[in-house]
Amino acid sequence: MSLEEQISLFGQSEPAAATNFDPELIPTDGSLPIPPGSYSDIATIVRHCNSCVRCELAAGRTHAVVGRGSENAKIMIVGEGPGQHEDETGIPFVGRSGQLLEKILESVRLTEDDVYISNIVKCRPPGNRTPTTEEADICKGYLLEQIRMIDPKIILLTGATAVRSLTGNKQGITKIRGEWLSWNGRDCMPIFHPAYLLRNPSRDKGSPKWLMWQDIQKVRQRYDELMAEAAV
Ligand code: URA
Repeated sequence: MSLEEQISLFGQSEPAAATNFDPELIPTDGSLPIPPGSYSDIATIVRHCNSCVRCELAAGRTHAVVGRGSENAKIMIVGEGPGQHEDETGIPFVGRSGQLLEKILESVRLTEDDVYISNIVKCRPPGNRTPTTEEADICKGYLLEQIRMIDPKIILLTGATAVRSLTGNKQGITKIRGEWLSWNGRDCMPIFHPAYLLRNPSRDKGSPKWLMWQDIQKVRQRYDELMAEAAV
């Protein structure tokens, strides 16, 4: 397939036939969308993200932070963007937020083998600021490809930026957390971002941590239902 033919696929909303499609021809230097169906493995996304200059975040990047966990996971967790430790290591959620996320998962007996963890943007926003809508949109093609390949049944969206950037739902996280929403046939659960819980350490009834405990139990319950359905 020629480069022109490949570029004419941009903007399609249904996965393009991947036959003869060479992901190496996907430009990483423009803001052109990434055609769905472009990638057939996460390793190529990692390589492309590390040479991507589609947005200004590239300038401050040590490592692109693409994902960790099981590529067969039924649960995917989407954060906002890498922080300092993630930028240094290339691994998502390894700083304080990540340690808390591990504890939250452990509390319902979930481990790294049960989840795949990624972010809305793959490069660290300066000073850990929230990614702009433009940055999130430009990077979204990589995330959509990850979701297509991992094919999770459940997606946990940590914080309002993750919810808005993936689903377009602009409601505040306090309003929508804890309620399942359906996006592209997948069950999405908006939850508080772990960094928000670090700033609000109370465990009192009704506190953000207490609410997170309710939400993660709902996730565990849905996961058990899916496992039971799959076993029938
Ligand atoms: N916060 C995020 O949203 N993502 C990370 O990878 C780390 C912290």
